[in-house]
Amino acid sequence: MSTKCLIASLALLIIHTSSGQQCQTRSFQRLCVTDGNFLVLENERMSMTINKTKGQIIELYYNSPLDSTIKSTNLVGGGSNYYLANIYVNDKNATVRPNVGNIEITQNDELIDLAFTSNDTGIWPINFEFHLVLQKNSSIFYYYSIHKYLRDGYTAEQLRWAIRANMDIFKYYNVDGKRAGTLPLQRDVKSAQIVYDWTYMFKDGSVYSKYQQISSNEDTNTVFGIYGNRFGLSLLQTHKDWVSGGPLKQDLTTHTGYLLLFHEHSAHYGTPKLIPTKGWTKVYGPIGLYFNDGESLSQMYSDAQRQLKEEEKKWPYQFVTAPEYYAQGRGSVSGVLTVDGSPNKEWTYLILTEPHVDDPQLESATYMYSAVAGKNGEFKIPAVRPGTYKLQVIAKGVVGKYIQDNIRVHQKENSDLGTIDWKQETHGKLLWQIGVPDRSSAEFKSPPGFPSPIPNLEEYRKFGTWLSYSKTFPNDPDFTVGSSDPAEDWCYFMPMIKTPGFPNQLKLVNITQNAQPTNWKVRFDYSGSTRGNATLTLGFAARVKAGIRALINGEEILEVVDFVGPQGDSALFRHAAHGIFRQQSVTFNQSLLKEKNILEFTPPVAVSQDDLDKMVMWDFLRMEISN
Ligand SMILES: *[C@@H]1O[C@H](CO)[C@@H](O)[C@H](O)[C@H]1NC(C)=O
Ligand SMILES: *[C@@H]1O[C@H](CO)[C@@H](O)[C@H](O)[C@H]1NC(C)=O
Ligand SMILES: *[C@@H]1O[C@H](CO)[C@@H](O)[C@H](O)[C@H]1NC(C)=O
Ligand SMILES: *[C@@H]1O[C@H](CO)[C@@H](O)[C@H](O)[C@H]1NC(C)=O
Ligand SMILES: *[C@@H]1O[C@H](CO)[C@@H](O)[C@H](O)[C@H]1NC(C)=O
Ligand SMILES: *[C@@H]1O[C@H](CO)[C@@H](O)[C@H](O)[C@H]1NC(C)=O
Ligand SMILES: *[C@@H]1O[C@H](CO)[C@@H](O)[C@H](O)[C@H]1NC(C)=O
Repeated sequence: MSTKCLIASLALLIIHTSSGQQCQTRSFQRLCVTDGNFLVLENERMSMTINKTKGQIIELYYNSPLDSTIKSTNLVGGGSNYYLANIYVNDKNATVRPNVGNIEITQNDELIDLAFTSNDTGIWPINFEFHLVLQKNSSIFYYYSIHKYLRDGYTAEQLRWAIRANMDIFKYYNVDGKRAGTLPLQRDVKSAQIVYDWTYMFKDGSVYSKYQQISSNEDTNTVFGIYGNRFGLSLLQTHKDWVSGGPLKQDLTTHTGYLLLFHEHSAHYGTPKLIPTKGWTKVYGPIGLYFNDGESLSQMYSDAQRQLKEEEKKWPYQFVTAPEYYAQGRGSVSGVLTVDGSPNKEWTYLILTEPHVDDPQLESATYMYSAVAGKNGEFKIPAVRPGTYKLQVIAKGVVGKYIQDNIRVHQKENSDLGTIDWKQETHGKLLWQIGVPDRSSAEFKSPPGFPSPIPNLEEYRKFGTWLSYSKTFPNDPDFTVGSSDPAEDWCYFMPMIKTPGFPNQLKLVNITQNAQPTNWKVRFDYSGSTRGNATLTLGFAARVKAGIRALINGEEILEVVDFVGPQGDSALFRHAAHGIFRQQSVTFNQSLLKEKNILEFTPPVAVSQDDLDKMVMWDFLRMEISN
C-alpha cells in the first residue's frame, strides 16, 4: 500500500475510533469499515472480510432474522469470491486476476464505497478498478467496475466476477422461476462421464451442463440466485447498458460448485472479443447482491424480483460518482413505434447504439440502451448518456430491422421521437412462411435430448438433441406447405451431414456415423403468374461453420459458402435456441415456379465426416412473389 493510501485509510480509521465503535466482524451494529490486515465492511444486515491483496471477499455473513445460525456461518466457500479474466496480450492467451495496488475508501453516513485498483498492468494491461458499496441497514451490497484503455494489443474474451458459495449452506438455485431446484452434487460431477466440455453424464443417464442454466439478457435474467433453506443471495441486474452483444445476448448465471456469476463480458454464443481502443472506457454494473429470507425458494425468488423493481427506480445509481457513469446528467428517448400503421402484437426491442454500430449482436465495446415497447407501441429508453445515437429496432413477427440515425440525447432531457411507422420489408405477396421471425428456433421440432437434472427444460436445452436427429428425421425434413406442422416436421437446426455429433457422443446412442450430405425439402403448390420475380428470405438463428444452398425444382438459386461474421456461435452445443442471427434473401425468376414445387436445401459444398459439428439453425423461411 502506498504511503498516501495508508495515511488516507488511517485518517478514516481515526474518524471511526473517534466516533466510538470500531467495526468488528459480525457485530452487525452499524455501517462501518475497518482497515487493518484485512478490510472489514459491515452494516446492520451483513458483514464481510476482504483480503486486500486480491480484493476478494473471504468471509461473508448475513444477519438473518429467520435463522440465527446463519449469522455466524461464513457464506463464501473455499475459492471465495473472485474476479477472473480470460485475455489475450499480443495474441498470447492468459488467465489473470487483479492484483490490488490501491484501495480507496469513501465514506459518509449513508454508505461506504471501497475501490480496489489493479496495478499489475504488466500481466493485465488495462486500467481496472472495482467497487463494493454498502449502504446503511441495507440487505444489498453492490458491485461495479470501471475499465479504461491502457495500451494496444490487449483483448478480452471473458471478464467475470463470481461468488463461490458455501455448499453446506446453499442448496438451491433459481435461474428464471422455472429452472430452479437443487444442483448436482460435486461428488457426482467428479465421478460422472464427461461427454463434452463442461457436460457430465451421471449414472442414471441424465446429463448436466452449466449452459443449461444460461439465460438471455432480455428481461428474464435480471434476477437469478442461490439459496439456502430459509435465506438466499440473488444477483439483481437493474439495467444493462454495458452488455456486449445487445439485448438478446445469453450468458451463464449459476452452476455447480454453487457459483453465482456476473459476466461483464463474454464471447459465449458468438459475441466478438472486446478490443479496447485508445480513449475507451466502460462501467460494468452496478449489480446488486441481495440477501433475503423466506419460507420457500419461490417466495425468496419473488421477493428478489420485487426488490429489482425497487432498484429500477434508483437507476442510474447516484452513489457512482465516476464521470464515466454519468449518474447526474442522463437523458431519455421516448416515442411510439408502429409497424405498417399499427402497434406490433409481439415483443419489440428498441436499441440505441453509437452511430458506427451496424449490428448490436457484434458490438462489445460501447454502451447500448434498450427498452421493450408497450402494447400500444409506446416506448421509453431511460438513463441514456447524452450524445448522438442510432436507433435500431427488431421485433417478433417482423422481418428485417428498422434504423433511424441522428437521435440526439440531451442532458437531463427526454427526446420525444413522436410516432415512428416502420414499413416492413416486402417483396410482393406472401406465398408462404415457415416459422416466426424472432431470431429463435424454439418453435421448431427438437429431436429428443438426454434428461437433465435441471427441471422444466425446453427440449433444445438438453444435451444431444443433434445425436437423435437421424432417428427423428431419418430422411431429413420433407415439409409440405399447408399440411405439415413446423413444430413437428421442421427440425430447429440443419446439420450438414446425416449424423451430426462427435464419434464418442454417437456411441452413447449407438449410431454409426453417416457422412452423407443432408437434403431438406419444402413442397408447395403455385397457381399464379410465372412472370416477375419470386423472393426467398431465410432467417438463421445461429450457425457453426456452415453455409447453405437452395434449389427450386432442381435449379440452384442460392449458394452461401460462408456467412460473414463469427465462424461459429456453438448455440446448438451450448443448449440454446439462438446465437448470432443472420438473414439471407434471394430473388429468382418466377418462371422457375410450377404447379407443384420442391424447394431443397443442401450444404453449399461437398461434405466429409469431419463436418460433424457444422450446422445452421433456422429462424424462419418466407416465400414471396411479385404482385
Ligand atoms: C490474501 O490472498 C493472497 C493471495 O491469495 C494470499 O497470498 C495472502 O496470504 C492473503 N492475505 C492474508 C492477509 O491472508
Ligand atoms: C490458452 O489456450 C490454449 C488453447 O486453447 C489452452 O489450452 C490454454 O489453457 C490457454 N491458456 C490459458 C492461460 O488460458
Ligand atoms: C501493486 O501494489 C502492491 C500493494 O501496494 C505492491 O506490493 C506491488 O508491488 C504493486 N505491484 C506493481 C506491479 O506495481
Ligand atoms: C433496518 O431496516 C429494518 C427493515 O428492513 C427495520 O425494521 C429496522 O428498524 C432498521 N434499522 C435501523 C437501525 O434503521
Ligand atoms: C446401445 O447398445 C448397447 C449394447 O448393445 C446397449 O446396452 C444400450 O442400451 C444401447 N443404448 C441405446 C441408447 O440404445
Ligand atoms: C426481376 O428481377 C430482374 C433482375 O433483378 C429485374 O431486372 C426485373 O425488373 C425484375 N422484375 C420485376 C417484375 O420485379
Ligand atoms: C424470366 O424467364 C423467362 C422465361 O425463361 C424469360 O422470358 C424472362 O426474360 C426472364 N426474366 C428475367 C428478368 O430474366
